[in-house]
Amino acid sequence: MVELSKFTSFFVANWKLNGSFAFINNYLDPLNNEKFIKKCVVLCPPSPYLYYIKDLSKNSFIGSQDCSYFEEGPYTGEISTKILSDLKIDFCIVGHSERRKYFEETNSTIKEKASKLIENEIIPIICVGETLEEKNNNLTNKVIKKQIEECMPKSAKSDNAIIAYEPVWAIGTGLTPTLNEIENSHKYIRQLNNEFIKFNILYGGSVNIKNSKQILEIEDVNGALIGGASLKIEDFIKIISNSS
Ligand code: PGA
Repeated sequence: MVELSKFTSFFVANWKLNGSFAFINNYLDPLNNEKFIKKCVVLCPPSPYLYYIKDLSKNSFIGSQDCSYFEEGPYTGEISTKILSDLKIDFCIVGHSERRKYFEETNSTIKEKASKLIENEIIPIICVGETLEEKNNNLTNKVIKKQIEECMPKSAKSDNAIIAYEPVWAIGTGLTPTLNEIENSHKYIRQLNNEFIKFNILYGGSVNIKNSKQILEIEDVNGALIGGASLKIEDFIKIISNSS
């Protein structure tokens, strides 16, 4: 399992449903030449490319964008945590709002997935965050608390799991909460449970080269989960190198 304590910040590139062999080769050329000290870089490509990237990437870890909560058997189309572990995949995003929205993922399946990942020594990146309607109704903390309580397995500890705070309304929209709001949500998550004091909590939602430095300077933000801006390798490298 990756030793999370060796790193001071985390940069997770969530490619979503994007990528090709040509894209990957263009991406890895510049990335493989970079040296990032104490910064943990994780690439999350679409599943069929996991093994290819694992083989070619020199200084990044590889993560899956999802996994099954089934272990093995007649579950057509699924990818188990056991298979991910066989491929030596180190991280896996679970509970992303797009999976909650389009694929009916629930807090209880997210918890099962996270638990299986931990059993297989893969680090789950567990996503939580409120919708715009919830934010406008002042429900942000309530929603985060419920998601955390229902998604985090007992086995999740600061050395084997990561939390990502991703307001749903900020994902892919170019909108972000204020720095204060991000800080408050991260602080709120941290105080929910004694164990969370030591947790790495990432922020996600429209992180780009313009706003990343300020966001990553917030004390309780330990890194970023980046979608759109991670697809441009020059931007992704700048986001990583510009952060202190
Ligand atoms: P975005 O996506 O950076 O494009 O907003 C973030 C995410 O979905 O994890």
